[in-house]
Amino acid sequence: MNLPQKHSAKGTTIFTVMSALATEHNAINLSQGFPDFPVDENLGVLLAEAVQNGYNQYSPMPGLPMLRDTIANDFKRRYHVDIDGTNEITVTPGATYGIYTAFTSILQKGDEVIVLEPAYDSYIPNIETNGAIVVPVPLTAPAFTVDWNRVKDAITNKTKAIIINTPHNPTGTMWTRGDWDNLAEVLRGTDIIVVSDEVYEQLVFDGKEHYSVLQHEELRERSFAIFSFGKVYHNTGWKMGYVIAPPELTKAFRSIHQFLCFSVNTPAQYALAQYLSQPTLPDVKNMMQQKRNYFLELLKDTPFTIHQPAAGSYFQTAQYANISDMPDTEFAIWLTKEYGVATIPVSVFYSNKQDDKIIRFCFAKKEETIKAAIEKLSAIKSPVL
Ligand SMILES: Cc1ncc(COP(=O)(O)O)c(C=O)c1O
Repeated sequence: MNLPQKHSAKGTTIFTVMSALATEHNAINLSQGFPDFPVDENLGVLLAEAVQNGYNQYSPMPGLPMLRDTIANDFKRRYHVDIDGTNEITVTPGATYGIYTAFTSILQKGDEVIVLEPAYDSYIPNIETNGAIVVPVPLTAPAFTVDWNRVKDAITNKTKAIIINTPHNPTGTMWTRGDWDNLAEVLRGTDIIVVSDEVYEQLVFDGKEHYSVLQHEELRERSFAIFSFGKVYHNTGWKMGYVIAPPELTKAFRSIHQFLCFSVNTPAQYALAQYLSQPTLPDVKNMMQQKRNYFLELLKDTPFTIHQPAAGSYFQTAQYANISDMPDTEFAIWLTKEYGVATIPVSVFYSNKQDDKIIRFCFAKKEETIKAAIEKLSAIKSPVL
């Protein structure tokens, strides 16, 4: 059959490859970004109750009003922003879908989209599938800061959008208010739309505050903000998220969404609405910070080099240049096979496969998983090659 290749990503994603390799070699899987600990029992009970109470048919296309209102209240409380649940929030089957649909609703053939790299792996295929052109701009390693001159230089009269991710996968860095101000300055006088992937917004450490694009009055008018319940409440398999955007962008988003999936899992929406309405919720931030701290403390006994502790997200990057000079993908495969720990090589997050000898660990794991993984890594004799 003569089938079109809609995007440049070839074969299976590295996440699937590394997870399969981990299973094959009975390795501890610190590669893919998903927790190995259970969801809050109450959330499970609420989901079961929703099914038993008969909430099993289609919900309204934009999402249950009750859930959208709850999200709006949550943002008022946490970010002091007013969001209209009716015209600005759409519930989606996860954040990846939200990003894809946002791009589909704004992109036309030949448009350009700026992607700061390293970047989460769905962005580029999403852009290309919509016939648009990716314009990569590298962040500056090892601190992974934005070079604003390079962003400015990347803008042309075809630039339709820029995608931002904070807290950042894979580097764990976070944007400050100053970064958003710089972006606002660069975009002033253009029609460029911001797609802001904020799935790790609640997983931020060391007393730092996440700064959302929704808090930036100037940028908010031109932005889609993308969120994931899965990442925050450790239920990635539910694939539940939401997109917040001003009414005009939300209208464009829903015009695609209504024909892509129409409506999202109803019992999960009931469960999440009730869960989020509780007076107090578990402290996910503190829980994840403890995991990051535990991971970093134990990692000191290994030959890996840490440039900066993750400020947020599920991820810690580490350099292995003093262990080996293997290319990073080869190193990650070797580590899985020889030492029984699966990770992700950071070059896969660059379109030019830039290799700085850095791998990404996911620390959103039980303490016993982290401990067992580091015990294995501590056995590495440095240097190997
Ligand atoms: C930066 C980023 N965005 C989006 C997603 C996907 O979120 P969801 O599972 O809700 O589609 C991930 C998952 O790894 C991610 O790291």
